Amino acid sequence: MAVEPEVRRWDALFAARTRGGAGEGLLEILALAGAEDVISFAGGFPNSATFPGASVAEILRELAERGDASPFQYAPTNGLPGPREYVADRLEREGPRPAEGELMLTSGAIEALELVGKALVDKGDRVLVEAPTYLGAIMAFQSFEAAVDGVPVDEEGLAVDELERRLARGPAPKLLYTIPDFQNPAGVTLSPERRESLVALARRHGLLLVEDVAYRELRYEGEHPPTLLSLGPDVVLQAGTFSKTFFPGVRLGWAAGPGELVAKLVWAKQNTDQCAGALGQRLLEEYGRRGLLDEQISRAREVYRSRRNTAMSALERHVGEGATWTHPAGGFFTWLELDEDGAAVAGRALEAGVAVVPGKPFFVAAGGERNIRISYSQASEERLEEGIARLGRVLGE
Ligand SMILES: Cc1ncc(COP(=O)(O)O)c(C=O)c1O
Repeated sequence: MAVEPEVRRWDALFAARTRGGAGEGLLEILALAGAEDVISFAGGFPNSATFPGASVAEILRELAERGDASPFQYAPTNGLPGPREYVADRLEREGPRPAEGELMLTSGAIEALELVGKALVDKGDRVLVEAPTYLGAIMAFQSFEAAVDGVPVDEEGLAVDELERRLARGPAPKLLYTIPDFQNPAGVTLSPERRESLVALARRHGLLLVEDVAYRELRYEGEHPPTLLSLGPDVVLQAGTFSKTFFPGVRLGWAAGPGELVAKLVWAKQNTDQCAGALGQRLLEEYGRRGLLDEQISRAREVYRSRRNTAMSALERHVGEGATWTHPAGGFFTWLELDEDGAAVAGRALEAGVAVVPGKPFFVAAGGERNIRISYSQASEERLEEGIARLGRVLGE
């Protein structure tokens, strides 16, 4: 008698931390958003028109012909010295230069957050994030079984007075994750006054601030308020990325902050990927040292400013009274507040051929039911206009 092969149920093997939680449902939306006839405002992707062209080919050829093994070899876990110096030079434009042990290169900002989780978070530890916040960060902290809680955000960024009340009530969180500039998903920026109060509060409570500066360099108008790192180098760990300014294919970012903390992240990185790819590090260094990254960023600011303008005027014309939305001065996102359920609108919008992300996944608890996020970074101006016109029709239904 033939023996039926046993059907393997892999899900019985999955760790508890992989079950449910952040991101559920979002993957489906992102997959649908990739369909050809859909105008996607879903992913926070940089516009490919900003990517470098032939200069990269030239630098890669030079690197290959120079007889220098470093681009092809394993790198030190904290990064190759030259690229690290280059990143330290960039950070010095905004505050004190990080010392040797105060800066490491990572495989993107998301890895920096993952390393924070791995190095600092024990099961059940309290971690605060903004409500709403970047989904990748929620997932990074929850994957280390943190008890993640949200603190509200308004037009001026994180509600620092509400944070103060929470800290007074306890229990004490280990860290607070914040995106002060052109926040994902809300597009808002933390005011200078709140930055000062936040750092003072962190000092009083022994709270670590994890500052994510992913969109900071993509400011297209107004003055930069100081980074949290420059205001509080003793209480801030900054996570940064070259994904939005250079290109995400290079997977490069950094973590900068107190030496003791950075050393622990370097320790954690030893058994994740051991080092960020050396080829990308050397490419970034050469490209940056020639002034090409700064030129690319100037061009990118124009691209995104123009997209933001198109999005804002299209929202005025096609959505009008049907919603309110934020007016970002940089970055990729505007956040809409609707009179109806965001998930239902996102579903109807998709049927009408436009993809937006409903608000709920950006919250760890309740919230976002009446919100959607629009990412205006990637679509052409024409498609941006057309997509928002479709959204306006859907909201008018
Ligand atoms: C706030 C924020 N941080 C980090 C990242 C990810 O950066 P990286 O590509 O460097 O991992 C993103 C990308 O969507 C983001 O929106």
